[in-house]
Amino acid sequence: MAAELLDAPFDVYRFDPAHEATPRYQRYALHLPAHTPVLTALLAIRAELDPTLTLRYSCRSAICGSCAMVINSKSRLACQTPIGPELARHGRIVIDPMRNMPVIRDLVTEMRSFWTNYHRIEPHLKPNRARPPPEGKPNPMTPAEVARFQETPRCISCAACYSACPAVEADPMFPGPMALAKLYRFVVDPRDGATNERLARIQPEGLWLCLRCHLCTEACPKGVRPSERIMDLKELAIASQGATDPGSRHALAFKENIREAGVLNELKLVRQTSGLPGMAAQLGQGLRLAAKKREILKRPKPIEGHAEVEKLYEILDREEER
Ligand code: SF4
Ligand code: SF4
Ligand code: FES
Repeated sequence: MAAELLDAPFDVYRFDPAHEATPRYQRYALHLPAHTPVLTALLAIRAELDPTLTLRYSCRSAICGSCAMVINSKSRLACQTPIGPELARHGRIVIDPMRNMPVIRDLVTEMRSFWTNYHRIEPHLKPNRARPPPEGKPNPMTPAEVARFQETPRCISCAACYSACPAVEADPMFPGPMALAKLYRFVVDPRDGATNERLARIQPEGLWLCLRCHLCTEACPKGVRPSERIMDLKELAIASQGATDPGSRHALAFKENIREAGVLNELKLVRQTSGLPGMAAQLGQGLRLAAKKREILKRPKPIEGHAEVEKLYEILDREEER
């Protein structure tokens, strides 16, 4: 029996800088089965309705990573996104190019910043002289060593995470989730000899700009979970170098601050993160906040149930020691 055809309205971002000053959305109406991937629908538009529609794709099998785009506001692979659930949820399918990169034409973006950030982390093994490979043989790893980074090699460099990341949007210094996930892969590889050098470099080069929103992990089609690898990198950086950066000082100060009373002592947090010179630099902002919220000037009293907070910290401390 032939599959039922759905009314499938597509609103597709169109922009050709050679002919148009401003982008626009173009409506295409198709009739397709629910299981049709968005990429197949776009190729049908191009083949049957509009040969000028420009997009990037290759494998059509979620392998090459080239068809990432924004589908109904989420960054994902067009070849892996069926139209049925999108239509059921939104009534139409709105397609945009990936975010955080300039658009070349229609759905094709210029990915230079994504690749520059990737190369910035030096994504190759720097051999560990303390662990040379056996003469003429590969350098073996134990299953436990491989397990530490087994998710990161799944990455297909699609940039869906980079497109979804608000820290990339906010600060061009931020290397992006994929680059940091790849950095993690080399940091924990026992055959790599540059662990401390890599961690020391990445702290002032954007590691702490990550907002821990997990949008990259949500966007990733391959389960790389970049936000979790970034949290691991932060812990490794603190373990290797201590709190050498405002970001790491803030993380440690936050942890100890909450422990004291179960609630933030905001003045103390700023002092521990930025020191007295940093406090002085933020004086104007602090005074404005204090005018609205006078309690930030007082030392907070322990919250009700503070003993429970202390118990939680003891459990976390024991986990860290393992
Ligand atoms: S968790 Fe960090 S890297 Fe991931 S999207 Fe949010 S800000 Fe970006
Ligand atoms: S981490 Fe995931 S989303 Fe990011 S580039 Fe790799 S596969 Fe794509
Ligand atoms: S076309 Fe290759 S991942 Fe979609």
